[in-house]
Amino acid sequence: MLRDRYDNQISTSSDAARDLYIAGVDRVLSGAADMTTPFKAAIDADDSFALAHSGLARALVLANDMSGAKAALSRAIEVSGGATARELSHLNVMHLQFGGKAAEALVAMNEHLVDHPRDAIIAGLSTGVFGMIGFSGHKGREAELLAFTSALAPHYGDDWWMLTQHAFSLCEVGKLAEAGKLVDRSLAIKREHSHAAHVRSHVYYEAGNLTDGIGFLEDWMPSYDRAGMMHGHLAWHVALWALEQGDTDKMWTWVDTEVKPDASIGLPINIITDTASILYRAELAGQTVDPARWQHISEYASKAFPRVGNSFIDMHAALAHAMAGRQDALRDYIDAAKGFAADVVQDCARAFDAIARQDWAGATTALSAALVDDARLGGSRAQRDLLEFSLVNVLLRQGKGEEAERIIGLRRPLRAHGVH
Ligand SMILES: [Fe+2]
Repeated sequence: MLRDRYDNQISTSSDAARDLYIAGVDRVLSGAADMTTPFKAAIDADDSFALAHSGLARALVLANDMSGAKAALSRAIEVSGGATARELSHLNVMHLQFGGKAAEALVAMNEHLVDHPRDAIIAGLSTGVFGMIGFSGHKGREAELLAFTSALAPHYGDDWWMLTQHAFSLCEVGKLAEAGKLVDRSLAIKREHSHAAHVRSHVYYEAGNLTDGIGFLEDWMPSYDRAGMMHGHLAWHVALWALEQGDTDKMWTWVDTEVKPDASIGLPINIITDTASILYRAELAGQTVDPARWQHISEYASKAFPRVGNSFIDMHAALAHAMAGRQDALRDYIDAAKGFAADVVQDCARAFDAIARQDWAGATTALSAALVDDARLGGSRAQRDLLEFSLVNVLLRQGKGEEAERIIGLRRPLRAHGVH
């Protein structure tokens, strides 16, 4: 029996199917463009290779083709008659996740990884800030993510994928020196690894190292295919730094060509969260944002995510609706929030509603409640510090400068004190 790059047995006797499967997995793990082609070719070489079908399903999810993904996973299960116990367990985790059974999928994944820690596609369902742990709504989920990658990392040695994933877990709890070392090693092995470029950017961001951060990304981005899944989000990182540098022309150029709806070809989750975020951060920085921009992103949110449920998306959708003055759409997030951190979404929605009405005291109360445990919303610290900066802004508007400074000192000590 043949083996994949991580030495897991795979049920195919075709060398060509194995090589194509490995290429597909590497594209998924590195966020490369066109993840589906190698899996489709592997299936052409051996249609009975179940994991080639489930790999295609994973690639289609990352290409935002959910119906195609479900069909591919069904086919994987159909042809799994000769699959190994590891492959059947792999398919079971995918099946639970596709069926929306998040809690059961997380349990099944953890059990699966005890026996098969080097099943990177399955482990990858929970790494990063958008994975099953990131979107679990659990209290202490940043520590949970660090525990998760800490347990897996020894099984991977000097592997470019795991180095980056563990680095992100470390970054999100403030272990920046260790995170930087691991992600630099990952980039040295595989420079084109887009998740490594992303995590490197987060380490720079958390350290407040704007100059090196924007320099790194502007150097790295041109070699990355625009169709790569991280392209739009990395563009948001550049735009954010450009805003911080005061180069608003550069910021709007990135937003208008790579971040906003109709410009980005990235995933809807990135389009809604990154666009709403950069518009609001531009306002916080004193920029005048054309109301048509808010209208546009609010309408996009309603269309792309008609139902509430993903708290990280919902928080940004609520922001967009509040700033666009669409009270009817906003009410859903205040009165009928659902999902893994619905209570935090409600606090955020109330805060943005209050901000839109210039009720600064009301916004202070709601933001303070949201910030008790905002990590439950999912997403990165860099994304969620929008909430801290919103609180600082409403405090300043009430003449409470000392309190605003204290908030930054407590929540963002590197920014306030330059402590490393
Ligand atoms: Fe990011």
